Amino acid sequence: MKIGAPRESNPNERRVALVPETVERLVKAGHEIVIQENAGVAAGFTDSAYALAGATIAPEGTVAGSVEVFVHVQTPTPDEIAALKKGTVVIGLLNARTDADGVSALASAGVTAFAMELVPRIARAQRMDVLSSQASIAGYKGALLAANSLGKYLPMMMTAAGTIPPAKVLVLGAGVAGLQAIATARRLGAVVEAFDVRAAAGEQVESLGAKFIHPPAAKDAEGAGGYAREQTEDEQIAQREFLKGHIAAADAVITTAAIPGRRAPLLVTEDMVEAMRPGSVVIDLAAESGGNVAGTVAGEVVHVNGVTINGPINVPSSMPFHASQLYSRNLMALFDLLIDRKEGTLNLNFEDEVIDSACVTHNGEARHGLGG
Ligand code: NAI
Repeated sequence: MKIGAPRESNPNERRVALVPETVERLVKAGHEIVIQENAGVAAGFTDSAYALAGATIAPEGTVAGSVEVFVHVQTPTPDEIAALKKGTVVIGLLNARTDADGVSALASAGVTAFAMELVPRIARAQRMDVLSSQASIAGYKGALLAANSLGKYLPMMMTAAGTIPPAKVLVLGAGVAGLQAIATARRLGAVVEAFDVRAAAGEQVESLGAKFIHPPAAKDAEGAGGYAREQTEDEQIAQREFLKGHIAAADAVITTAAIPGRRAPLLVTEDMVEAMRPGSVVIDLAAESGGNVAGTVAGEVVHVNGVTINGPINVPSSMPFHASQLYSRNLMALFDLLIDRKEGTLNLNFEDEVIDSACVTHNGEARHGLGG
């Protein structure tokens, strides 16, 4: 099949959908690969590396209309959508749950679009799990951002001028990103505490050498698919009361709490930020979905009473080499389902739960009630 990847047009996007490693594997499997010129430059992959892997380098504006499978990191641009031939397979992080216009445009173009973020998180589909591969990078970077903005050492230091105690890091939300933030802060020598409303997270937190903190009488809030359910008003009040002291004592707080399809829960209120020591740092990795912290401005670093609140957006793109490599491997795993290995042709088996769930447009229509 002819498979192509463009250069991402969003100026803040440094990732690329295919990397030379995966291009080489696809070429070996008999596919023809087209990469837009300079598509991987921002991620550290040169045109010559793609050419060496067997890809054809194509000028801007020519990839979308010339391929059978068009792979993106983000949603294709209107120009790209206009250029796509009917029946082309489009794959990307499409924000399909919130971007109704984007889904409608893909449906009108008559393409079969797959939203990588909708691949179900079942054991069989772990290799395609972009939410995990990218969240893990966000968590790692979140800990580094905290270390970088803190005017303190993270590890304990025994110096000739005396002993420096280790920094205290508190991680709120111990899912994929939170666990990686914990692991990274621990490797840097911080003393780490973590909180999550899912009791199951406790064992994972402790296996990383951090302390799991949990209000004594709290009910487990694990809901469908292993995700957290939304907290009741009373639970939220009790949770904030419990967290207050831990937040005030922390040098750095890293927040990652999310509820699928909902605004991120507010965990750190204004008065909690006020109770933090000047020089403390908050990294709000939920900034894009509304933020876990009062005062977070998505994409900005703000200072409140000497406390730094950083709400970074598209954090995986700030580590584009490995973010692209992992994303590209996630795509390869989806290709294994979508493309018949022997025939090398498309095999759209909608009885397969992964294909059915991730496919958002087909035959001119939006699926799963998505789109406008
Ligand atoms: P997420 O990004 O939706 O949420 C992040 C974390 O925030 C979760 O651990 C959640 O419990 C927590 N949270 C939500 N509300 C909170 C609150 N009010 N206070 C504190 N914490 C709160 O979730 P993520 O990281 O994408 O995955 C969470 C879980 O999903 C995993 O731990 C696992 O159980 C499941 N999962 C399953 C996979 C598989 O089987 N293939 C792969 C990845 C995740």
